[in-house]
Amino acid sequence: MNRRKDLFKKCYDFTLADEVKALGIYPFFHPIEETEGPVVSFAGRKLIMAGSNNYLGLTADERVKEASINAIRNYGTSCSGSRYMTGTVNLHIELEEKLADFFEKERCLLFSTGYQTGQGVIPTLVQRGEYVICDKDNHASLVAASIMAVGQSAKFVRYSHNSMEDLERALKTIPDDAGKLIVADGVFSVSGEIVELPRLAELAKKYGARILLDDAHAVGVIGRGGRGTPSEFNLADEVDLMMGTFSKTFGSLGGYVVGERDVINFIKHNASSLIFSASPTPGSVAAVLASLDILKNEPELIERLIVNTDYVRQGLDAVGFKLMPSRTAIVSVIIGDQMKTMVFWKKLFDAGVYVNAFIRPGVMPGHEALRTSFMATHEKEHLDKVITEFSAIGKELEII
Ligand SMILES: Cc1ncc(COP(=O)(O)O)c(C=O)c1O
Repeated sequence: MNRRKDLFKKCYDFTLADEVKALGIYPFFHPIEETEGPVVSFAGRKLIMAGSNNYLGLTADERVKEASINAIRNYGTSCSGSRYMTGTVNLHIELEEKLADFFEKERCLLFSTGYQTGQGVIPTLVQRGEYVICDKDNHASLVAASIMAVGQSAKFVRYSHNSMEDLERALKTIPDDAGKLIVADGVFSVSGEIVELPRLAELAKKYGARILLDDAHAVGVIGRGGRGTPSEFNLADEVDLMMGTFSKTFGSLGGYVVGERDVINFIKHNASSLIFSASPTPGSVAAVLASLDILKNEPELIERLIVNTDYVRQGLDAVGFKLMPSRTAIVSVIIGDQMKTMVFWKKLFDAGVYVNAFIRPGVMPGHEALRTSFMATHEKEHLDKVITEFSAIGKELEII
């Protein structure tokens, strides 16, 4: 009998996506044809974008676009190499200096994506016999990065979501003389909830652990002048390392980590995802530089973002939706059923509102949700339409 197994069998057996497409409710990979930020075009139809992480609307800002175009004119479209070798241009250095200054840390290091930033920082710092300690709801990129550390004989421990009691329980089980890194999202990406940083910082001190916060959804949203979670709690000095992405508030692509000189220098000379991957493109970096200037000079954008998000949060709450706890730019509506989530998503799409469907493996069964997120550049009429369509469909599907 031939017992040989084809590696691709699992692919041929994977039919779920095709089944959902046949039902006409597939919520993923829909190509946008044009975007002004809060309004986008799909197949010739205009929809309100209520699912983007373009929090300050800067992807559509003429100053950001011009900066990117000018950088392409000066440096070309790619650096065609790693930062380590031929891929550093002076824009990278300028941005690293300006971000270190903005976050009031000694040094900054850029990566080509936020995902790669976690992959660069965690396995480089957490080595054989050392511990990475993660919140169970951390972003998937941090989980993947922690598993990379395990591949180097580090230990990976997880604690219940935002439970400081469980974090302490976990810390108590770890030998006192082992190196420890606590890793948490500053603002959790599915719910928009903020990390319990004051207690987390106390525990880190008590048990001799270092802290890495992923502030992807916090910068430009919370903290003094949009400086993120540590600043929100006035605890910038207690957080050893902050990382983030340029794909949200900064309207671009790339990632960064900030921290003390020696630690950033070590990561810079040892992180595989930095050394063996091409550097962020000049156009991307120039867009971030322009966005950073706007963030510093126009704090009213942050206020508008918060006013807009609070307006939708209150509107959806008032009509009876169950929302995940959040006071940031994310409002996640719990649907609690995979099929209903996709049907709801499709009805919103047809009604002219684009949101994100969060189903397995993005969330646990029973926590399926429609995740909405807002921009400083949404107008009241956009937000009213989001609330109106959500309410009508929620009633039709007997969710409210
Ligand atoms: C918390 C968090 N970390 C990291 C990332 C990855 O960032 P990027 O899109 O730059 O790869 C994201 C983006 O989805 C995120 O939400």
